[in-house]
Amino acid sequence: MPLFVYNQRCFTSIFFFAEAAQPIILFLEESMKIFIDSADIKEIREVHSWGILDGVTTNPTLIAKTGKKFDECVKEITGLVDGPISVEVISQDASGMVNEGRELAKINKKNITIKIPCTPEGLKVVKMLAADGIKTNMTLVFSPSQAVLAAKAGATFVSPFVGRLDDISHFGMEIVRDIVNIYKNYNFKTEIIVASIRHPLHFVEAAKMGAHIATCPYSVLFLLAKHPLTDIGIKKFLEDYQKIPK
Ligand code: E4P
Repeated sequence: MPLFVYNQRCFTSIFFFAEAAQPIILFLEESMKIFIDSADIKEIREVHSWGILDGVTTNPTLIAKTGKKFDECVKEITGLVDGPISVEVISQDASGMVNEGRELAKINKKNITIKIPCTPEGLKVVKMLAADGIKTNMTLVFSPSQAVLAAKAGATFVSPFVGRLDDISHFGMEIVRDIVNIYKNYNFKTEIIVASIRHPLHFVEAAKMGAHIATCPYSVLFLLAKHPLTDIGIKKFLEDYQKIPK
């Protein structure tokens, strides 16, 4: 009987096991992707150099912090990272958002992803931009129901904001668990970006739940790579190295 291995959204291998009574299908998830939640080119360049960066998410607050012009800042990021780069629209109505989205997408058709707030107007925009082949990230998502609508509208990504839910005494990661389960039930193609991450445990929980992507500020990414026992170990090895006769 055959063993089908489903990986990276397609069947990659088929093996035959004479002793198996029924066909076996093994589902392997894609690797978790890591985005940086920043518009600071120095931070993005540093994390890019680690070789683990798959994309970038920005928002108006992050771009304002750089002191640069909006388009200038976005262009600079697209010159550095070859992966999805989320850029948020400012308009509230669908036609304004669509126009902004189409203009922003011209900066780099392959990588620019239009971030659209999850509102009834925003849902219309996801559909329209998807028809133009423009990637979308439904942002400011705070409930599983919003995530279902985003997926139904055809969003490329959905961004539940876990830290902001924690801030108001809701367990932010609980909605991520729900969204992961719901999307699996229906095989939705929308990828889940765990956003508003505030500390390494958000990241680890996201990985355990099988979220597709975690977008982290630089401070959290730095903490992910650090461990005090690693530092103590390095110090001890360096001290002991000095004791080796030269
Ligand atoms: C993600 O796309 C958002 O830019 C971000 O994660 C918001 O995080 P905050 O709640 O820390 O502002």
